[in-house]
Amino acid sequence: MATFTLPANSKITGKGRAHTAAGGTRVKKFRIYRFDPDSGENPRYDTFEIDLDDCGPMVLDALIKIKNEVDPTLTFRRSCREGICGSCSMNIDGKNGLACTTAIEDLKGEVRITPLPAMQVIKDLVPDFTHFYAQYASIRPWLQTVSPTPSGKERLQSPEQREKLDGLYECILCACCSTACPSYWWNSDKFLGPAILLQAYRWLADSRDEMTGERLDALEDPFRLYRCHTIMNCSNVCPKGLSPARAIAEIKKMEAERHI
Ligand code: SF4
Ligand code: SF4
Ligand code: FES
Repeated sequence: MATFTLPANSKITGKGRAHTAAGGTRVKKFRIYRFDPDSGENPRYDTFEIDLDDCGPMVLDALIKIKNEVDPTLTFRRSCREGICGSCSMNIDGKNGLACTTAIEDLKGEVRITPLPAMQVIKDLVPDFTHFYAQYASIRPWLQTVSPTPSGKERLQSPEQREKLDGLYECILCACCSTACPSYWWNSDKFLGPAILLQAYRWLADSRDEMTGERLDALEDPFRLYRCHTIMNCSNVCPKGLSPARAIAEIKKMEAERHI
């Protein structure tokens, strides 16, 4: 159920702490959302000044520097540092993206960093992905077949059939798109959201999968699929350059065609 205001204990009322740089000629200020459920305090913004001459080029480099040298309690996810794992998704200056592929020099003035919007926050910049992963599991994201493999070994695809997966298989499940989607903000309990629908289409588009009808049955629902109103926020923010909105349109087309 959509709620239009933050619960009292989620409002940013806490007094933030300021960490000033010891020196440097290229000092950049980062304003970072802090929330510690064990403290009993409301969230707050802390500010950190970083000397860019002594820091790597990406937002993730600044976060790692802050954690290593200023405040070890700052909490965020990261792994690959090259846009592959999807762990470091967060909201940077009002836009969802990956901290490891966002260059600091592209951000003007003070940089505000918050967790992905419209998700429960576990701590600082770490949102709770439990529901998102449950939705992912619900679309049965694996190859489903009933016939024996023709060669006895593997199911082959032509280059043209394989090409249909381009623009889909590259999704790293970072959730930047789903948490930028207004329909998902209001109805994430029932609407699958752009990331999971793109993944659903990845299996519908796979020539080897033999559960197309069952997959379409499971998606044909006023909320699960049709809560997408083609607002396009999802395609605008995807850090991998994918278009979940296009994938959703393809699913709607497949649903319509089977009723003709
Ligand atoms: S196109 Fe659909 S899924 Fe994408 S942001 Fe808009 S409503 Fe959400
Ligand atoms: S479609 Fe793009 S933004 Fe959405 S989860 Fe996949 S990689 Fe992330
Ligand atoms: S650390 Fe893996 S995508 Fe950013």
